[in-house]
Amino acid sequence: METEEILNLKNEAFAQITTAQTKEELENIRVAYLGKNGKITNLIKKIKNITPEKRNKYGRTINSTKQNIENLLFERKQQIIEELEKKEEWFDLTIPGIKPQIGSKHPLLETLKEVENIFRYLGYQVAEGPEIETDYYNFEALNIPQDHPARDMQMTFYLNLKDEKGNPKILRTQTSAMQVRVMEQIRPPFRVLVPGRNFRYEQVDASHGFEFWQVEGFVVDKDISLTDLFGTIDFVLRELFGENIKLRFATTNFPFVEPGVDTYMSCTICNQKGCPFCKNTGWSEIMPAGIIHPNVLRRGKIDPEKWGGFAFAIGLSRIVNLKYRISDLRTLNTPDIRILSQFK
Ligand code: DAH
Repeated sequence: METEEILNLKNEAFAQITTAQTKEELENIRVAYLGKNGKITNLIKKIKNITPEKRNKYGRTINSTKQNIENLLFERKQQIIEELEKKEEWFDLTIPGIKPQIGSKHPLLETLKEVENIFRYLGYQVAEGPEIETDYYNFEALNIPQDHPARDMQMTFYLNLKDEKGNPKILRTQTSAMQVRVMEQIRPPFRVLVPGRNFRYEQVDASHGFEFWQVEGFVVDKDISLTDLFGTIDFVLRELFGENIKLRFATTNFPFVEPGVDTYMSCTICNQKGCPFCKNTGWSEIMPAGIIHPNVLRRGKIDPEKWGGFAFAIGLSRIVNLKYRISDLRTLNTPDIRILSQFK
């Protein structure tokens, strides 16, 4: 037996081992080469027949071949075990997944978008203004001078900040504060909508909060009359609540409008049977409004002889409550996921 033949045998064994796929196959290969009657074992048995000169070299070759085969068997066995383990990390596609918590839009913002869309359709542009406001824009410019009794109705949060005139800055009590700010910036005719938060030091109850949303709207144009105002309110509220609502207008007083109007809508929460939200009247006060006072136009550098206007405010939180029949305004200000998730 020549060393070349040993080499061939080794190659043959290596080829079989590297392509073996199971531990059983490997065991069969081991037995075929290294077992009691294995090809290599048989060669080892024949060493004694070899001439002494060649025996040494032959012996070493066959021993190292045996060693090589054993090593390769071991390595391949490890590989097969690893592959098996990997396969065992299988994935069951039928197991239901873990549902991620998904947030939802706050009903107030949803409703605001709806309101904005209705007004955009009517040609209004949307503007935003500062929540920290000056006494001037919040009161003075709106025909509410210092010591005017109308200030009592709007219990004001005063801040430790001063404006240019040295008056304390305040948290705005009404989005009407944007009227003169806008008039100073753009020329009539215009239609503007101002959504925003307001703040008042109020006794909190089912229909009042110390922080509340209003959507202020105002129009300045030629030949504006009360019917333009009524028509607008009527259209908008029916778009929001459907054709079946009932509306009632009453005169009222706000210093920045003349005449002033209060809009009452049939209470959708109790269907006019009476509930805390409508204070048992069946009617919900929903949109104060009026014809813009000439003094306000003048403050905005608009000539009241040439131009007229109407203004209104929508109590956004009230609209949401009436729309979703939530009887307590405070519900919406609670950051409780159990409440918010109902509005998906
Ligand atoms: N700003 C008033 C308030 O918060 C509401 C209001 C009344 C706004 C009449 C108006 C209006 O634009 O014309 O009490």
